[in-house]
Amino acid sequence: MKGLWLIIRVACVLLQAVEIRSARNITIDDTSPLVHYGGKWGRSNANIFSHEGSHATNRDMNGSASFAFTGVGVYFLSPLFSIPIAVTLTLDGRPPEVVDLQTTVTLNIYESEASSARWGATDLDNVTHSLVVTYGKPLNNTPGPAPYTVVDGFM
Ligand SMILES: *[C@@H]1O[C@H](CO)[C@@H](O)[C@H](O)[C@H]1NC(C)=O
Ligand SMILES: *[C@@H]1O[C@H](CO)[C@@H](O)[C@H](O)[C@H]1NC(C)=O
Ligand SMILES: *[C@@H]1O[C@H](CO)[C@@H](O)[C@H](O)[C@H]1NC(C)=O
Repeated sequence: MKGLWLIIRVACVLLQAVEIRSARNITIDDTSPLVHYGGKWGRSNANIFSHEGSHATNRDMNGSASFAFTGVGVYFLSPLFSIPIAVTLTLDGRPPEVVDLQTTVTLNIYESEASSARWGATDLDNVTHSLVVTYGKPLNNTPGPAPYTVVDGFM
């Protein structure tokens, strides 16, 4: 009987190790049906800095985008911009976090650095989570062309 328990325990530990190793990043574009948009959203011009060539844009501060996923981690993907842009990210019931997305590099009028993970949360329980993107106040208080909120993708 003791031997059987040991075998079961060892099998469980091995299974867990396989699950952890199988954790992988899946990239979800802003056009995915897994992203639910509220408010008025449009599309950026085609550009080489965005994942899949463009990103979703809201210009009135009232847009929200929510991404529901099951997994142990999540990243918010975005280019960096030559104009003041930030987003507020709220994961489940956690305190909202503002992520600034401006760069000093100016390679284009808007997007100026290639899309990458700009924020992430890891070590989450492997259950369903919700990440909500809303307007964030940029660090740079120079008025930009519009109070943009952007979504390029999630991973
Ligand atoms: C999370 O759970 C799903 C099933 O709900 C499973 O397919 C997946 O491998 C699990 N991921 C990790 C990292 O444990
Ligand atoms: C997933 O992406 C993040 C951010 O780019 C990276 O730090 C991490 O190592 C990646 N994980 C895997 C399993 O590829
Ligand atoms: C955005 O929300 C504010 C405050 O709720 C409201 O005054 C404003 O009219 C809204 N703007 C648009 C374009 O819906």
